[in-house]
Amino acid sequence: MSLIQDAARVRENAHAPYSGFKVGAAIRSVEGRVHLGCNVENVAYPQGTCAEAGAIAAMIAAGDRRIAEVAVIADCPAPVPPCGGCRQKLAEFAAGDVVVTMATTSGATLRMTVAALLPGAFDAGFMVNAEKGVS
Ligand code: THU
Repeated sequence: MSLIQDAARVRENAHAPYSGFKVGAAIRSVEGRVHLGCNVENVAYPQGTCAEAGAIAAMIAAGDRRIAEVAVIADCPAPVPPCGGCRQKLAEFAAGDVVVTMATTSGATLRMTVAALLPGAFDAGFMVNAEKGVS
């Protein structure tokens, strides 16, 4: 099964009663396993979580540490792009050349790298002058 098919399958489990917009995400880890996530909304709206965040949490909980490939899918007019926060979350565990395949349920796809999705990313390199333990 392709990573897009995995994402489409887990999308069916999304809890999206407030937006009505179901999203599925699948991550293949460098370690070789597939981890799935769907959006999980909450009546207290800001508490909802994105599909990508769920897949990342599943990967980390399973013991894998690095992302090799990502697929995300939703029913929308154009391939669904990860939100800004999820781009940063993906960048935490993915090299810049990792490919994110965005898809629609009707079959359109768009492939972009993590670096292209998050230009000018904040990373640990900016913290070299940080003074630890100082408040
Ligand atoms: N959503 C995701 O899960 N991933 C995305 O890439 C875009 C947005 C979710 C969040 C919310 O549950 C719903 O889609 C509408 O924003």
